[in-house]
Amino acid sequence: PGFSRREILLGGAGALTAFAAGGLGARQALAAEHSLTLSRLNHSVLPETVTADMMSFSPSGPPPVLRFRKGQTTTIDVKNALDEASVVHWHGLRIANNMDGVPYLTQYPIEAGNAFRYEFTPPDAGTFWYHPHCNTLEQIARGMTGVIVVEDEEDAGFDSDLPLNIRDFRLGGDGQFIAFYKPRNAARGGTLGTVSTVNWQPQPVYELAAGSLVRLRLAVTDLTRVGRYTVSGAEALVIAIDSNPLPQPVAMDEIVLAPGQRADVALRVPNSEDEVATLVLKKPNGDKVLATFQPKGASAGRDLRELKPLKPNPVPQADLANAEVLDFVFGWSPGGDAPQASICGSLGYTFWSINRVAWGGDVPGPFDPLATMRHGKSYILRFRNESPNDHPIHLHGMSFQLLRSNKRKLPPLVTDTALLLEEETMEVALVADNPGDWAFHCHVIEHQKTGLAGFLRVE
Ligand code: C2O
Ligand code: CU
Ligand code: CU
Repeated sequence: PGFSRREILLGGAGALTAFAAGGLGARQALAAEHSLTLSRLNHSVLPETVTADMMSFSPSGPPPVLRFRKGQTTTIDVKNALDEASVVHWHGLRIANNMDGVPYLTQYPIEAGNAFRYEFTPPDAGTFWYHPHCNTLEQIARGMTGVIVVEDEEDAGFDSDLPLNIRDFRLGGDGQFIAFYKPRNAARGGTLGTVSTVNWQPQPVYELAAGSLVRLRLAVTDLTRVGRYTVSGAEALVIAIDSNPLPQPVAMDEIVLAPGQRADVALRVPNSEDEVATLVLKKPNGDKVLATFQPKGASAGRDLRELKPLKPNPVPQADLANAEVLDFVFGWSPGGDAPQASICGSLGYTFWSINRVAWGGDVPGPFDPLATMRHGKSYILRFRNESPNDHPIHLHGMSFQLLRSNKRKLPPLVTDTALLLEEETMEVALVADNPGDWAFHCHVIEHQKTGLAGFLRVE
């Protein structure tokens, strides 16, 4: 009660393309009620062309940034104005199972014309994202990925906050969609996009107060790309990965982010208008500027050392001495029938499997959990990658801690999406503290939809 329209628009579903960094000096009241309308739309991504048949969570532009407050109950009314079924998943939020948005596992698909009310209380602060989990490849390819910001009670001292939704689209020179993927790529590393965007724009320029401290919220919502990112032309520190604060901020020299992963970066905007900073995707054939940060006005003279450390999220620590080990093998599909067509879509191929079982993801049963965990107990999950491709392994509903790898030294990060390198064996630990059936899959969507998917049960 008592929210002005402006506050609701700033905090909620109306915040369409309001990506210009807003001041955080005065704490904004955040709307507790949001609404999303799943829509088809035509929108200009490339200059002078209009891309037909994009899909968004808004009828009039890119998916809005959703802003929630940690510990505050929020509702999201989802209206499905598409001509097909969908369902919305809140990636990284450790919420109740029946609000997790996975068809057949946690709810029925939201049919065309129908609505569904999600209601949950985010326990953690940080940068998250949302996307459909139904006909996932096509709906994401057409545009349905948005950033979620969960604010902590206390601010770290930034002047502003800038969510960056990083993803490619597969467009031809005429700005229209080309085939979303190629089956031969789905059996390998996946199909890359042709146009890189940030917030649905190729190479946007953001004007930021000179000398100010900006919290860049990078969310890689691409279907496929494992990328190396850097910030050049300014001082920048990585302060959180996958919504969990780093024990110690590290210089943003280069960071690898796979589909589904996020990084919070503290940017110190240069002092003068002719010193621009850029977000860069590093590529073997030449680096690519994804976005430009243009200083504006007289320098605010801020210093990165003025920032307060972020508070760790209340993720329980696993009891490693008493943890049971569960093994998961990620590899080729043993063959057999492609998953049945369903209203949430099957690609009609099975190339991949977890523990030799291929599940097309988002396809109705009969199927069994890959493992059952006892509520409250600690587990070590051992991920073994038998394939020559990388897989960002994502678990819904619970965050886990990286323990060790046979290939590299792992930082003790807490995450929901871990990049498992080719032929790597990695161990991670968690407390099975959230009851329900939780999707568990590779976030290269072509892999997920051709078998590299399953679920874990906590009971
Ligand atoms: Cu972003 Cu099933 O996940
Ligand atoms: Cu998820
Ligand atoms: Cu994969």
